[in-house]
Amino acid sequence: MSEKLVLAIETSCDDTSVAIVSDSGCVYKMLSAHQDDVHKPFGGVVPEIAGRNHSMAVLNLVDKVICGSDFEWKDISGLVVTSRPGLVGSLIVGLVTIKTLALAKELPFVGVNHIEGHIWAPFIYEPLQEPPKIPQKFLSLAVSGGHTQLVLVSQPNNYVVIGKTVDDAAGEAFDKFAKMMGLGYPGGVLVDKMAMAGDPHKFKFPRPKLKSNDFGFSFSGLKTSALNLLNSLSEQEKKAMQNDLCASFQEAIVDTLVGKLERAISHYGNLPISITGGVSANSRLRERVKEFCSQKKLELFLPDLKFCTDNAGMIGFAGSRLIREGILSSQNLGPSPRSLPNDFIYEDC
Ligand code: KG4
Ligand code: ZN
Repeated sequence: MSEKLVLAIETSCDDTSVAIVSDSGCVYKMLSAHQDDVHKPFGGVVPEIAGRNHSMAVLNLVDKVICGSDFEWKDISGLVVTSRPGLVGSLIVGLVTIKTLALAKELPFVGVNHIEGHIWAPFIYEPLQEPPKIPQKFLSLAVSGGHTQLVLVSQPNNYVVIGKTVDDAAGEAFDKFAKMMGLGYPGGVLVDKMAMAGDPHKFKFPRPKLKSNDFGFSFSGLKTSALNLLNSLSEQEKKAMQNDLCASFQEAIVDTLVGKLERAISHYGNLPISITGGVSANSRLRERVKEFCSQKKLELFLPDLKFCTDNAGMIGFAGSRLIREGILSSQNLGPSPRSLPNDFIYEDC
């Protein structure tokens, strides 16, 4: 076999995911354990519980991924793990597991940045699918529960961040709004569902920083404005108008994200676009970005729905790209709640 395979582990937040991925991005086998039901009563991820659950799930998933695939350990040539940014108690579980496997199986390993993983998610594929042709340079909008950033990506692994959120991430705004509405957790997908039957122009929410002359984002003002509106409504009114409230709130986020993409394209020129991260699963965002790209005749790369939220497939591909460049980690590698200074180049933000 000419392709090289890695085994990858992702445990940066509350999803435990393990995958076997090739260096061209083919995800041969991926298994994930989700903790949504465990964290639901708290309305958000409880870090200590997340770490504890990772420790119970991870080795079992590693075994199942190897046994359930057509491969054996001897076919694996490297190991990859998310080492940053994320919840430290969660990252430690994946990291210590990979380090131990690296020693036991005598394999090299690399720790990757979680956002870098998301950036490569639109380019992973499954057996029997055509591999997407990765552009030399593209503009990536990484929108998740923890991050919102616009990145100019050049092959093989060069990342220039041109804009990021100054406060909340877009997914966090969705989650907090869903909590205020009493919809449950995780919020984004629930707001997306309700918004389908609502009027996006019924309520006027602010579009923070949309008109500012930069590529940055801000979502905390939008959240406060939603809180004020919801406080002015009775429980019956909220219930009766919940679809319209969700659709209007969602439209404000989508307008902001698409507006900043438009600004970036008019500044940096026509580049292929990719949207990634949990929020890239949002049906309205996908629809609006498709419209925008077709108007401007831009190539668009969106992850398959199962690769939008956290998964080891994207981490494996990001890591195998680093291994291909000779970048490896040592047993001294520790977890970090934040990106490291050399992970991204920051331009004007
Ligand atoms: O990438 P991800 O799994 O984790 C982080 O890296 O943060 O993203 C999770 C976020 C959550 O905030 C969740 O509400 C949001 O992605 N999300 C969505 C949708 N599906 C997940 N937001 C809007 N619409 C969706 N359909
Ligand atoms: Zn993520």
